[in-house]
Amino acid sequence: MRDAVLNGTATQVDPGEETFAALESRHGLGLYVPRGITLTRGQGAYVWDADGRRYLDCTAAYGVASLGHCHPAVVAAISHQAATLIACSGSFGNDQRAQLYAELSTVLPAGLTRVFFCNSGAEANEAALKFARLTTGRTGVVAAMRGFHGRTAGALTATWEPKYREPFEPLLPGFNYIPYNDLAALEAAVTDDVGAVILEVIQGEGGVQPGTADFLQRAQRLCSDRGALLIVDEVQSGFGRTGTFFACESVGLQPDILTMAKGIASGFPMGAVALGERVVKLSPGQHGTTFGGAPLACAAARATLRILRAEQLPAQVAARGAWFLEQLRAIPSERIRDVRGRGFMIGVELTEPAAPYIAAAQARGLLVLNAGTQVIRLLPPLILTEADLAFAIGVLTEVLCSPSI
Ligand SMILES: Cc1ncc(COP(=O)(O)O)c(C=O)c1O
Repeated sequence: MRDAVLNGTATQVDPGEETFAALESRHGLGLYVPRGITLTRGQGAYVWDADGRRYLDCTAAYGVASLGHCHPAVVAAISHQAATLIACSGSFGNDQRAQLYAELSTVLPAGLTRVFFCNSGAEANEAALKFARLTTGRTGVVAAMRGFHGRTAGALTATWEPKYREPFEPLLPGFNYIPYNDLAALEAAVTDDVGAVILEVIQGEGGVQPGTADFLQRAQRLCSDRGALLIVDEVQSGFGRTGTFFACESVGLQPDILTMAKGIASGFPMGAVALGERVVKLSPGQHGTTFGGAPLACAAARATLRILRAEQLPAQVAARGAWFLEQLRAIPSERIRDVRGRGFMIGVELTEPAAPYIAAAQARGLLVLNAGTQVIRLLPPLILTEADLAFAIGVLTEVLCSPSI
């Protein structure tokens, strides 16, 4: 097969020759701990593996498939756009991009009037840090311990977890990490050389830790008093995941810069940065991207926004998420230390490593994520029904109460 690939006679690899898992392991970089199954199909809240087994997907592909997998409106929008215009650079206007700007502006937090489209959460944060530096001329950045903002150089510097960051140092200078929700530390950290404070409203990778309204609002006030910009990272919490369109709304926060990705286009890669009036006006060449804001991504995002609104999914997530949290809190397991979160962004912290329980849930047809070693994280599609939730509760109760796991 290798020779056929090299001499150009192989157009497709015969999966019978090696298992999919073996192919991935042979050619991939091994950057992810394998879950032991190969997903080949998705529909709604469910995915199927190569052997035809069905799973309720409470990972939503890292919180991306907000409308579920292959939502008909998104499939139709992508298919239609793919047959119309796939690529269009930022040098030219585009009907899909223009309409997405307008439609997004109706759901963004107040005061965010301009948007830059890119391709991922890390890129959105990278751009946000650049825009803050351009605006303020300052290099200092305050970020939070346990915060996660992505893997590119700037976003990685803002990410606290030392094991992600330290092997790549030196990264950007001037970053200071404070304990999340610590008002005194925040007050002391936002000095005259700080150009930006970057925070999640609910820390996702850091263990699903909600920020207090006090802390987040103080960050906003300090930034405005001391000439810094507040960057709020809603890459994970945006687009209805926490029961409001943006998590900012639930804590009365008005960021200067808001970053988005994940659920924005139902799995089609896309990121975005929204800017308020305190951010300097940018001019041609100061930032850019080849793929950002391309028609296919914009069409997928427009379909996603339309369904989120038409089906009032944020409100549905608020109600069902509250019930879900209540049911999780009622699981009679001594292994559970805490259950927290908002909407469909939920963490179940255990008193021991979560991995065996995540594997046991998978064996019973439920896919969940971890956040760190001891937290089971649930980021299900926003379309989950009451029956789906009951199934998830049943499986988690069974595995967390089982004496033999
Ligand atoms: C809050 C937050 N910011 C940024 C990122 C990075 O996004 P991406 O993986 O699309 O670069 C993530 C990814 O998990 C995230 O949760």
